[in-house]
Amino acid sequence: MKKILIINGPNLNFLGIREKGIYGNDDYNSVCKYIKEKFENEDVKIEILQSNSEGKIIDFLQSAYFNKVDGIVINPGAYTHYSYAILDAIKSVSIPTVEVHLSNIHEREEFRKISVTAPACIDQIYGKGKEGYVEAVEILLKR
Ligand code: DQA
Repeated sequence: MKKILIINGPNLNFLGIREKGIYGNDDYNSVCKYIKEKFENEDVKIEILQSNSEGKIIDFLQSAYFNKVDGIVINPGAYTHYSYAILDAIKSVSIPTVEVHLSNIHEREEFRKISVTAPACIDQIYGKGKEGYVEAVEILLKR
């Protein structure tokens, strides 16, 4: 059975509370439930973790290495745009990683168009809401 780890960064636990016009009305737990239910009949174990701290996200990535995870989906939140530490951590673990953004980061403020973490990822999905996570898992399962 394949193991997929989904990592969500800062403020994603505030889904359904924060900027609903951008991120939607669904709360964080219902988004996690939606993703897990999509794959409940497939041969995959999906774990979803969230942290508001950069170091904790790096710990999650390193744990994926030790736990022999097959693929990682990461939404680094605002860290996407400036965390070279998360970039290095994704590179370090050598596990195929797909970056996901709920919103279309390429049609928002200039600073959001830059992802410093994407170069370590095999793909970047944006602007598809919670469906983006499902697509990311599918990409990893097809490999
Ligand atoms: C986000 C986009 C980021 O720019 C922002 O800081 C977030 C969420 C998204 O999912 O669209 O926190 O990663």
